[in-house]
Amino acid sequence: MKIEKLVIATGNVKKLKEFERLLAPLGISVVAQSEFNVPEAPEPHHTFLENALAKARNAARHTGLPALADDSGLCVHALGGNPGVNSAYYAGAQKSDADNNAKLIADLRGVADRRSHYTAVLALVMREDDPEPIIVEGRWYGEIIDIPRGNGGFGYDPYFLDPELGLTGAEMPIDQKGARSHRGRAFAKLAVELNDRWGGDHASRA
Ligand code: IMP
Repeated sequence: MKIEKLVIATGNVKKLKEFERLLAPLGISVVAQSEFNVPEAPEPHHTFLENALAKARNAARHTGLPALADDSGLCVHALGGNPGVNSAYYAGAQKSDADNNAKLIADLRGVADRRSHYTAVLALVMREDDPEPIIVEGRWYGEIIDIPRGNGGFGYDPYFLDPELGLTGAEMPIDQKGARSHRGRAFAKLAVELNDRWGGDHASRA
């Protein structure tokens, strides 16, 4: 069974755009869960994996469609992996990028070790009680800078420098970010998994 349409379990419009671009080459169209008034799933878990799966199952339950969710965040080495799964709420429940970034930079004041990485876990379920979800992970290694650069991306991107390119996530065009990012890397793995289950020679598999 090949997937043609996927509900994306996110309320983040910029993330949705990234999903759309990454899935188009696979011939999969996306629809936002907001179009079905899906209530946001709670994210109470300690791992990206459990939160991603909870979000995907929640979207499938409310729509009856296959659903794809990601749970992602920024892990800063000197902060013991924080903000991690709490990245969206680092500075409080208001989920403000500006407040989160201000807290991050304040927490790193005087800290020399700026190593960090973004992690994204993608979970795809065919239905709410799918016993064989597809789960993949991607990482993007970089470092945190004190002065923001660029207007693209979202979240922590203006402060996240990709040292190999010398650009922050916010300075990259969306395609370049997609090729480098945690989400992009996870997607590359997802494409392999999808092809293995339903693509190419396996198109007739259930
Ligand atoms: P989620 O929606 O629960 O997965 O929260 C992810 C949070 O991690 C976002 O609100 C951002 O703060 C941060 N984050 C994840 N991916 C990115 C990215 O690509 N750029 C910048 N921030 C990101």
